[in-house]
Amino acid sequence: MDGFLQIRSATKMYRTPEGGSIRALDDVTLHIRSNELISLLGPSGCGKTTLLKCIAGFEDLDHGDITLTGQSLTRIPAHRRPFNTVFQNYALFPHLTVERNVAYGLDVAHVERKERTRRVGEALEQVGLAGFGARMPNQLSGGQQQRVAVARSLVLKPKVLLLDEPLSALDRKMRESMQIELKSLQHSVGITFIFVTHDQEEALSMSDRVAVLASGKVQQLASPKEIYDEPQNEFVANFVGTSNIFKGKVIAKEGRTLTLKTANGRELAVASDRFGVGDDACAVLRPEHLKLSGEARDRAIKGTVTQSVFVGSEMHLHVDVGLGRTAVVRHRHNKGSTEAAYGPGADVTLYYTPEAAHVIECKGA
Ligand SMILES: Nc1ncnc2c1ncn2[C@@H]1O[C@H](COP(=O)(O)OP(=O)(O)O)[C@@H](O)[C@H]1O
Ligand SMILES: [Mg+2]
Repeated sequence: MDGFLQIRSATKMYRTPEGGSIRALDDVTLHIRSNELISLLGPSGCGKTTLLKCIAGFEDLDHGDITLTGQSLTRIPAHRRPFNTVFQNYALFPHLTVERNVAYGLDVAHVERKERTRRVGEALEQVGLAGFGARMPNQLSGGQQQRVAVARSLVLKPKVLLLDEPLSALDRKMRESMQIELKSLQHSVGITFIFVTHDQEEALSMSDRVAVLASGKVQQLASPKEIYDEPQNEFVANFVGTSNIFKGKVIAKEGRTLTLKTANGRELAVASDRFGVGDDACAVLRPEHLKLSGEARDRAIKGTVTQSVFVGSEMHLHVDVGLGRTAVVRHRHNKGSTEAAYGPGADVTLYYTPEAAHVIECKGA
């Protein structure tokens, strides 16, 4: 176990103006590795910023502790922690040039001029902005401003860079290219990035590992692939990607194959090593695991299309399969073909293999 940055049983309460209190972090334990890009992913209000602030030292924990290579950070003030934060709104000084903006932290630390110039040049180079030093922030695009904000943090040579939704103000195309840039920057600089986002695609595409948070608690910490393929609970299955989740009770088990009976009496075969007859369980089937045509070994579910949504590369068909929830299926359409067959009201059969399903615990059948 890499004991780089360890957060143990971190709890943080806030008082509300009404006199109540909010548990923004609820017993959070996370072991963050050196040189990894880890995302904190969760909906607005789940505690992501609070966790970053506690790591950075802008807020104190009520319970628990945070250690860096075994040393407690509790008594170390924010400015003495080897961390730096890149905020959502970049917060560049509008009246200072790019170079002065990047040099700011070095000025504060009284780094001598020659060294300062060298490090500012190096940081601008790292973010691909060599030659932009004399510009003012308003002469840069949003993406370039974001890179200046990153350079301003990197110039201080932190051991950990904390990034709080740094790309959320950018348009989609810019965001996607910055995701790739930040990932490769993290790789080349070789320090830990803790990246906060509410965007699951962003978290999956950039991260070595993802910590999914909800209501101040860690729901799952795993690689992007594991988070997607093997969500630990219903929250993760719903929040990350599109899921068809069918609740039921296990009524039969044969080898790895379980028969799940839903509340309305339909049966679904799914494969899992866990669960036995009598257990409540939820089957998670990703849209890509439900197909409109099948082979002999596949299982079939009959249903009726309720909606078909054109999204460019494919159609998303919403299918009432009588399992308590509408199933979403993706259908790749071919130019020129007639899709009328899959319009609302069309009867379809969906095929899947029991192995494609991921089975999780769920409350109530
Ligand atoms: N300074 C504060 N005072 C009171 N409540 C706060 C304060 N900061 C955050 N909260 C509350 O704590 C919870 C977590 O907030 P936050 O960490 O900002 O969430 P996120 O960054 O995931 O959107 C929210 O319910 C929020 O309203
Ligand atoms: Mg936030």
